[in-house]
Amino acid sequence: MKFFVDTAEIDAIKELHALGMVDGVTTNPSLIAKSGRDILEVTKEICDLVDGPVSAEVVALDADTMLAEGRKLAKIADNIAVKVPLTWAGLQTCKTLSEEGTMVNVTLCFSANQALLAAKAGATFISPFIGRLDDINIDGLELIEDIRTIYDNYGFETQILAASIRSANHMSDCAKIGADVATAPPNVIKGMANHVLTDKGLAGFMADVEKAGIKIL
Ligand code: E4P
Repeated sequence: MKFFVDTAEIDAIKELHALGMVDGVTTNPSLIAKSGRDILEVTKEICDLVDGPVSAEVVALDADTMLAEGRKLAKIADNIAVKVPLTWAGLQTCKTLSEEGTMVNVTLCFSANQALLAAKAGATFISPFIGRLDDINIDGLELIEDIRTIYDNYGFETQILAASIRSANHMSDCAKIGADVATAPPNVIKGMANHVLTDKGLAGFMADVEKAGIKIL
């Protein structure tokens, strides 16, 4: 499973990238707003840093303006994936941009039917939001399973990009189901390293290091 990092914070991307943990980046208008940066400027900086796909989201609601925005975003770098919402206008924009050879990430997906439409419209990525479904007591992971089944049934090449990931468990659950990509905030990716038994075991080893005066350097 590929790891995308869900942030527009350059330092956080750099830290994970140095460890080979960044196969791509996703942003959205809220993350851009949080960064306090200009969308075109920060997106270009991210694209220069990372080889994999960098999702940048349109902000218009109608298809014509979305398409114009998408084309402008696509010019930033070759690794841009234009992110469009899962609306009829978003699907129209997806179809045109995909035919023009631009990667498209269809976002705000909350049902298997929406995912089916995105695949038919030629999306490179579909982004089902599992955390936001969990928030309203609907099993987000079940949606990932359903989309996996449907895409495999018909050989759709659209990649399942599990989004709105809130915990380290979400990451391993998505990997078990066979999501192609998972995008998560930097703290969730770093949190995957944590285990209480690792901490406990290390504390025991350190106590013995102290007691025996073990030195290596
Ligand atoms: C992904 O592309 C989305 O930007 C993101 O995962 C949304 O996550 P949230 O529901 O935690 O805001």
